[in-house]
Amino acid sequence: MKRIGVLTSGGDCPGLNAVLRGIVRTSTTLGWETVGFRDGFEGLLPPGDAMVLTNLNTAGIMPLGGTILGTTNKGHFIAKVGEGNRHRLDEAIIEATRATLAQMRIDALVCIGGDGSLSTAFQLHEAGIPVIGVPKTIDNDLEATATTFGFDSAIAFVTDALDRLHTTAASHKRAMVIEVMGRHAGWIALYGGLAGGADMILIPEIPFDHVLVAEAVRQRDADGFSSTLIVVAEGARTRDGIQSLQATASGEYHFGGMGEVVAAELIRRTGKETRTCVLGHLQRGGAPTTLDRILGMRFGVHAVKMITDARFGRMVSYHHDSISDVPLADAVDRLRLVPVDGEIVQTARSVGISFGDR
Ligand code: F6P
Repeated sequence: MKRIGVLTSGGDCPGLNAVLRGIVRTSTTLGWETVGFRDGFEGLLPPGDAMVLTNLNTAGIMPLGGTILGTTNKGHFIAKVGEGNRHRLDEAIIEATRATLAQMRIDALVCIGGDGSLSTAFQLHEAGIPVIGVPKTIDNDLEATATTFGFDSAIAFVTDALDRLHTTAASHKRAMVIEVMGRHAGWIALYGGLAGGADMILIPEIPFDHVLVAEAVRQRDADGFSSTLIVVAEGARTRDGIQSLQATASGEYHFGGMGEVVAAELIRRTGKETRTCVLGHLQRGGAPTTLDRILGMRFGVHAVKMITDARFGRMVSYHHDSISDVPLADAVDRLRLVPVDGEIVQTARSVGISFGDR
């Protein structure tokens, strides 16, 4: 019989509880015990903050957003500060983790997280701790997996928001700027914008020009479309390299405010009545979509299989509708960005969507 540990780390997202359900059910079937650490890696600090997860106490968690274990993107286990800036874990923290796992008789640890959390997991693996990674992010920006759970739920919300904003924008003959999440990647803006019928999508991968955004809105007015929906990724950048970032006390930064920048420039250049709507953390909340529930559960089941085969130091990954795994070393620090000349951008251009670059 094995005793496995699991934790959820970094920003929460819909589908985390489906992964937990997949892990607990598979592990129970094998006659193993699952221990859930609370609040991400912080739960590993001695004496360990954890609870035994059973089929009974995890019943009904699948439709719940967030994570029943709690999570954090701060604390003692930060392995990255800013973009690609790796940070070595304190030796004492690694030893404390080892002691907690030994004391609690944990044979393997499943770490569910995004880029930063997987970097932490990788360092624990390098220190000889048996670790399995499960990728998680609404941003869909991990190179080593074609997609992650959470993304579909986030874009479903963005699509619904755009459907609602179309009618109010049209009624008032306004431009509406909608800021969405995604950090360095424009996937949420692109997919949400395409599905929600946006007229313009500004993403970090395609630097835009305020002059061209204003021209496109003027042209739409001249063509008789009196309202315009502009989706702005929080990480969107101008041709001059301007982004909207806010520094935090920890030296990290977060994106935010680019929607307001675009709206203010549009008003200044066209006089068009414009409103901004920041979708923010609403994109991370709520029930996971069907797709995210299934993907999350498949990831959880595969993570347990990896433990059975002692495939440690690896991350679950999804490619061509099948689940496999890749070395954590190949997964961390590799962001998947929108290919600027890829088919999906071409498709958007073909249906008349402007990226503010031509
Ligand atoms: O990585 C997920 C994400 O939601 C990003 O899209 C966003 O920039 C960030 O997390 C927000 O983080 P926080 O919850 O710390 O504000």
